[in-house]
Amino acid sequence: MSRSLWYKHAVFYELYLKGFYDSNGDGIGDVNGLREKLDYLQDLGIDCIWLPPIYPSPEKDDGYDVADYYTIAPKYGTIEDFRCLLEDVHRRGMRLIMDLVLNHTSDQHPWFQEAKKGPGSPYFHYYVWSRTPEKYTEARIIFLDTERSNWAYCEDNGYYYWHRFYTHQPDLNYDNPEVRREMKKVLLYWLDMGVDGFRVDAVPYLFEREGTNCENLPETHDYVKELRAMVEKHYPEAILLAEANQWPWDLLPYFGDGDEFHMAFNFPLMPRLFMALKTHDVSPIVKIMEGLPEIPSSCQWCNFLRNHDELTLEMVTPEEREYMWKVYAPDPRMRLNLGIRRRLAPLVDNDERRLRLLHTILFTIPGTPILYYGDEIGMGDNIDLPDRNGVRTPMQWNTSLNAGFSEAFREKLYAPVIDKGDFSYERVNVESASHNPSSLLSWIKGWIARRKKHPVFGMGKVEFLSGKDPALLWYRVYNQDEEIMVFAFFGDEEKKIPLSFDRWRGKTLKDIEGKKSPLFVSTKDITLSFAPYEYKVWEVKEG
Ligand code: GLC
Ligand code: CA
Repeated sequence: MSRSLWYKHAVFYELYLKGFYDSNGDGIGDVNGLREKLDYLQDLGIDCIWLPPIYPSPEKDDGYDVADYYTIAPKYGTIEDFRCLLEDVHRRGMRLIMDLVLNHTSDQHPWFQEAKKGPGSPYFHYYVWSRTPEKYTEARIIFLDTERSNWAYCEDNGYYYWHRFYTHQPDLNYDNPEVRREMKKVLLYWLDMGVDGFRVDAVPYLFEREGTNCENLPETHDYVKELRAMVEKHYPEAILLAEANQWPWDLLPYFGDGDEFHMAFNFPLMPRLFMALKTHDVSPIVKIMEGLPEIPSSCQWCNFLRNHDELTLEMVTPEEREYMWKVYAPDPRMRLNLGIRRRLAPLVDNDERRLRLLHTILFTIPGTPILYYGDEIGMGDNIDLPDRNGVRTPMQWNTSLNAGFSEAFREKLYAPVIDKGDFSYERVNVESASHNPSSLLSWIKGWIARRKKHPVFGMGKVEFLSGKDPALLWYRVYNQDEEIMVFAFFGDEEKKIPLSFDRWRGKTLKDIEGKKSPLFVSTKDITLSFAPYEYKVWEVKEG
C-alpha cells in the first residue's frame, strides 16, 4: 500500500481551543465554536489543525496536566460535539491532530491518586519513585523559573516521585509494560474516533537511566517505534509529530528509518531567524540548515515561527541566548525559563516587512509550515498575564464586544482581550484584515495558495547559495521539475548586492507573486537592489 505523504504538502495551524471562539457565552472557547470558524480556516487554506490538550485537567499547565485521557473537558463540549467537529473537518478535506501527553499526567489523575497510597497500590509502578532524591542527577531542570528539582516528596507514602516539568506533573514509568500498553490504548481510542494523528508532547523524556541526562534514550526510540508500527498498521494515513526540543543530531534519530515520527519540529532553525533580524547576519541560519541531517524520504520537518510556549532559547549558545534576551526581552517580564514569552508581531515591533520576510522563509524553506493562531493577523501579547498565558489571549475576530470572541461579560472571559495600543482588537482583527487586500492576512492566504501550486516547496531539496553580503539569505529549492530561488534580505538599510548568476545564464527568472516583470539572465553578474527586509522569490524558467 502506498501511503500518501499529505503532511508534506500541508499547511498546519496550531489552534488554542480555549481562545478561538466561544459558542455558548461562558467566556471559554469550545468545540462548537471551532466548528463555526472552520470556514475561516478552510478559506485561509489550512489543511491540518493541531489542538493542544483539551482533556479534563486541573489546568495548572493549561491542559498539559491530563487527568483523563479518554474524554474532553466539559467546558469544551461533549465527546459528541467533538465527533461532529471531526466530521466537519473531514468534510472540508481538512484534518485534525490532537496533543498526546505521554511523558506525565496530572497529579490529579486517578492513577497517581492511587499510586500515592504506596508500593501496595497496583498503580504505584505507573510512576517513577525513589527513596532518595539523589538519583538521575545529570538530568537538567526544564522549568527553571519554578522548579528546584526533578524529584518531589510525597507526604502520603514517604517516597520521592520523578517529574521533568511542574511538580504537579509526575512522570509516567515507561519501564512498566502496563504503562506502555495503557498509552497505546489512548492512541487507538482517538484514532478510532477519527483523529488524524498526534503532536506528541515532550518525547525525549520518556525513560530515565542512571549516568545519562535522561533524554533521547534508546529505550524511548524503541517505544516510539512500537507506537509507529501500531499506528501504521491500523491507520496508515495518521501521523506522529514530535515535540523534541533538541539539537539536530539528537533530533535525527526521532525519524528512525522512517519508522518513528513522520515529522519533527525544527526547533534549531527558529531562534536563528529572529537573531538574524537583529545582527543582520544570516550565517547561523545557513549553518544550522546545512547541518540538518538528511532525513528519510517519508519524513518531514515542521517549521514554525512561534507557538503557544515561550520562544525557546535552548538550542542556541549561552552567548546567543544572552544576546536574544537583551534585544528581544529587555523587560524581565518578557522572559520565562530559557526563553521569551512574546508573540510574533510584538517581537518584530509590528513591522510588516519583517513579518513578511519571516513568513517567506516559513513558506519556502524545506519542510511543512505551521502557523500559530492569531499570528496571521499579527496579534499582540499581554505580558502582565503569568506563565505563557500572555500569548494565549482570545482570537480577535472583529471590533464588536470582546473582539467578537465571546458574548460573555468581560469579567467572565478566561483571559482579557487585548484592547489597548497598536495590537488592540479595534486595530487588529480578522474582519478588517480580510477586507484589506494588502493586509498580512491576505498576503499569507496568497502564499498558502501559491505554496500548493508548487509541490517543490514541500518535497524539494535546498541549496544555500553564497550571497556575498552577510545580511542576504539566498537559497534555491528544487526537484526534477521545478527550481525556485529565494532571497531574504535581513539588512535594515537599502543595499545593492552584486551576485553571480553564471549558473542561470540563458534562463528567465519570474517573480512568483507576479508583481515584477521577468528577468532574462544574459550576463554572468547581476546587481540586485534590496530594500530593508525585502524578499524576492523567483521561479527559474527555461529561455
Ligand atoms: C510541552 C508543551 C508545554 C508544556 C510541557 C509540559 O513542552 O509544549 O506547553 O508545558 O510540554 O507538558
Ligand atoms: Ca464556551
